[in-house]
Amino acid sequence: MMRDRLSMKQTYNSNRVSRVASRVLPFCIALVSFVGRTLAAAPPEVDAGKLPPPARSPVEFDREVKPIFEKSCFRCHGPERPKSHFRLDNRESALKGGENNKDDIVPGDSAKSKLIHYVARLVEDMEMPPAGKGEALTPEQVGVLRAWIDQGAKWSVGAETAVRETQFSITPTARWIGVSGNAQKFREDWGVKEGFTAGYEHFEMSQPIGKEAVLQVDGRALFDQKDYRVALTLSEPDLGFVRAGYETYRRYFNDTGGYYAPSHQAPLSLDRDLHEDIGKAWFDVGLTLPDWPKLVVGYEYQLKEGNESTLQWGPSSAAAARNIAPAYKQVDESAQIIKLDASHELAGC
Ligand code: HEC
Repeated sequence: MMRDRLSMKQTYNSNRVSRVASRVLPFCIALVSFVGRTLAAAPPEVDAGKLPPPARSPVEFDREVKPIFEKSCFRCHGPERPKSHFRLDNRESALKGGENNKDDIVPGDSAKSKLIHYVARLVEDMEMPPAGKGEALTPEQVGVLRAWIDQGAKWSVGAETAVRETQFSITPTARWIGVSGNAQKFREDWGVKEGFTAGYEHFEMSQPIGKEAVLQVDGRALFDQKDYRVALTLSEPDLGFVRAGYETYRRYFNDTGGYYAPSHQAPLSLDRDLHEDIGKAWFDVGLTLPDWPKLVVGYEYQLKEGNESTLQWGPSSAAAARNIAPAYKQVDESAQIIKLDASHELAGC
């Protein structure tokens, strides 16, 4: 009885050992193969004499090099999940190298650049493109890549400033609003006109200028609503900015008066589209020098024009004592504002 239990325990233990082993073993194998590969990758000196000679003529990146990368390498070394974290779509990443090497590209020395060893298929298991995964480069293509690296591995101007590209976004809109009942009241309450509206809910553009400056434009344009806005900002880090903009929108008023039951009369209506256009134009100049207070000088022009409903209703002829007739007044106002603003962030606050 006692022995039986003992042997059961032993079986259990040996089971566990084999379970643990089955988990650890793959790790060990992976580790050994990794170490083995790392050792194998440790420079078995490449015989530079076996490399195809570099092309003699000056190489143009866009015309000669990029197409080779695009056709044979981007599939695995583009921006998305690049193999071995090695990207060939911009100079900075390419020069950084991948998980294996920091000297995949040595500007000025193609014979020492691992990338060349790989595309010339001189390093076993590192042939690029890998065996069976794409056509090998021709000796002429390798020659072009060598000459390109020897000449400094220059990238095209556009590609180097990839981050400073013009960006543009636009949100178009089209809508139909149907109103049954008092359309004027609807306009006043909702600030929009019934019917069809098309335009751009929001548009935005950012355009690099020179080395550091950026011009930003944003706004909206809803044509049938007479609703427009455009704002421009030109800014340069550590120097300042210029902002300018214009905005106009329409404010609607109900043209219908109140209803007084004893008069048995339908509410009076002016029968006209009461609205005013509200507009604003501005211009700001700011200085954002490091260690200086931020200074902004601005000018703003505001304008209001149209027919505004007066909140006080006027007397109606039928019920002279009661002010239930709609009334309005004409407005044409403008205001000019000069702004001066200085603010300073004190370090440590
Ligand atoms: C089908 C996929 C594939 C294509 C196509 C491909 N590669 Fe690779 N590349 C790999 C893989 C996978 C590795 C990682 C190999 C390793 O570490 O064992 C790699 C690694 C590299 C490395 C080493 C990066 C490092 O870790 O330092 C270079 C350089 C390289 N490739 C260049 C190229 C060039 C140049 C081309 C085009 C001519 C190319 N590859 C095409 C899959 C590809």
